[in-house]
Amino acid sequence: MECVDGINGKSHVYGIIGNPIEHSFSPILQNSIGKALGDNMVYVPFCVTPGEVKKAIDGAYALGFYGFNVTIPHKEEVMEALCDIDPLAAQIGAVNTLKRVEGGYKGYNTDIIGLERCFAAQGLEIKNKTVVILGSGGAAHAAVILAASKGADKLYIINRTVKRAEELKEQVEKYYTLPVSVLTFDRILEIPSPDLVINTTSVGMGGETMSPVENTVFWEKVKAVVDIIYIPWETQLLKDAAQKGCKTVNGFDMLMYQGIASYEIWTGRKLSDTFWEMARKAMTAYYKKSMVLLT
Ligand code: ATR
Repeated sequence: MECVDGINGKSHVYGIIGNPIEHSFSPILQNSIGKALGDNMVYVPFCVTPGEVKKAIDGAYALGFYGFNVTIPHKEEVMEALCDIDPLAAQIGAVNTLKRVEGGYKGYNTDIIGLERCFAAQGLEIKNKTVVILGSGGAAHAAVILAASKGADKLYIINRTVKRAEELKEQVEKYYTLPVSVLTFDRILEIPSPDLVINTTSVGMGGETMSPVENTVFWEKVKAVVDIIYIPWETQLLKDAAQKGCKTVNGFDMLMYQGIASYEIWTGRKLSDTFWEMARKAMTAYYKKSMVLLT
């Protein structure tokens, strides 16, 4: 038997809670970052039942966990288990990162940082643009606040359930004054000049060959689209958009960037741009090689 050179009594423990969680790429990402930086840490996945999030978080605090990522469907429910919340996460109304502080966990939202960094890396400008958000869940909240805070000219929120889209519109209007319109998918062609589209719906995830935008003519007018899905690598939505000459970006870079931003929050470290890029490239290569196994 060989002795392992890894986890020991001094290891800092981190985790991700979600449901389901077995397809999450975050354990690979976070443990790789820790290893690259030489940190004595371990990051593990936990499948938590909705309604039991507070119990799980309270227990984790008692056990000494240093921090968490939070994914679908707990990004809103987890907020009631926190002792403090970062102002940007409060604006978004969703949390994906918990940092251990005195008396509990403080909540942050790094989805917005991930998305912002993804836009910047792709040279996509939000200022003065008409931005269309597909969906109204937790990820849509981050996308809407990013667009509003970066000076979008006009915002369209498209969702199957109008009530959720209206609630999201109200959330953004609490903080920003830009015009926001709510539409259903069947009226998407009414948008006069959609510059940027961000798909936050789960349609097309896991290999299903559907797109939330059925009329592909829509993509003729769109300059660029970011789909936050990364399984499959190219969704039907991205295929349709690319065919109409629209620039397309999948969700993998956003996933990488939000994860690196979480690591910075947990450790208080400021990682260099070179490190961010190196981590993204290494993870992309790893992911593409192992994609068959992960999907
Ligand atoms: P997340 O927190 O990741 O955003 P979510 O809160 O479950 O996840 O949101 C998923 C989004 O995908 C919602 O906007 C959902 O629309 P509804 O609000 O109408 O439920 C959207 N979505 C899921 N399945 C869909 C489908 N078949 N057609 C259109 N939209 C769908």
